[in-house]
Amino acid sequence: MLNNPIIGARTNILCVIGHPIEHSMSPVMHNAALNDLSLDYIYLAFDIPPNDLEKAILGFKKSNMKGINVTIPHKEAIIHYLDELDPLSKQIGAVNTIKNEGGVLLGRNTDALGAKQALLDGGFKIEGKKALILGAGGAARAISFALSEKMGEIFISNRTEEKAIKLAKELQDKTKIKATGKDMSEKTLRSLAYSVDILINTTPIGMYPKIDISPISKDLLNENLFIFDIIYNPLQTRLLKDAKKIGSKTLNGLDMFVNQGAIAFEWWTGKKPNVKLMKEIIIEELGNK
Ligand code: ATR
Repeated sequence: MLNNPIIGARTNILCVIGHPIEHSMSPVMHNAALNDLSLDYIYLAFDIPPNDLEKAILGFKKSNMKGINVTIPHKEAIIHYLDELDPLSKQIGAVNTIKNEGGVLLGRNTDALGAKQALLDGGFKIEGKKALILGAGGAARAISFALSEKMGEIFISNRTEEKAIKLAKELQDKTKIKATGKDMSEKTLRSLAYSVDILINTTPIGMYPKIDISPISKDLLNENLFIFDIIYNPLQTRLLKDAKKIGSKTLNGLDMFVNQGAIAFEWWTGKKPNVKLMKEIIIEELGNK
């Protein structure tokens, strides 16, 4: 299948690190795009437990590892080992993409930009709108900071209320957005769902294999609410199916995932990848699971 130059001593290496990592779609997506452009690169996956992160990253720094994607649970801890961060990843406090420039490690958060681009391409106009974000973990942080420049107001609703309050406070302190942190009870969701323009699910509720559950009851949705679920496995979560039945506009997590990969790819290689191909390969992979 590969029409790349033969893998040799000069082949550039890219990778994703995480723990666990075996379900990552990044290798298949990036290798398809590298192959498409016949670039002398290969993209691998490494399972790195938290205790080995330092040793691994210092080893990569001294090698021909040109780029690294970072996933759960290392997105925050990795910052400690990087030489430079762009302003957005500094605000977010999490990095998912590293470029190794001759032993100098640069960090960015392409999840944030990928999500924003996906929303714009999905027809959602961010300016002045009110958002309800479910979850207050790494993805919620990336998305809320990415949207905070243009959004009117953000509500964060999380199972652990203190984390939502902490993220809302950080958003208010570091950006100009008005932000409020809340719990994720039915009562709270009921009071917020009708007063916002967009609902963004960043929790894993509804993700494969527990695909029959939704983070919010269908009764609380309405047709004027744009629903963005960042899950891409399955592509149509229970939340998105409910939303479609009601007539809401919806967006799944595929574009965000592909966009974050495409931004990283271009940063590393200087070439624009074939985004359509990247999407197709993931849809094919999901079908094979
Ligand atoms: P990610 O990087 O994907 O955002 P994360 O940082 O582990 O992952 O964050 C996961 C988010 O989903 C958290 O907000 C978590 O809530 P808690 O802060 O209370 O842990 C939320 N989450 C995970 N499982 C959940 C569940 N079963 N019900 C509700 N929220 C859940």
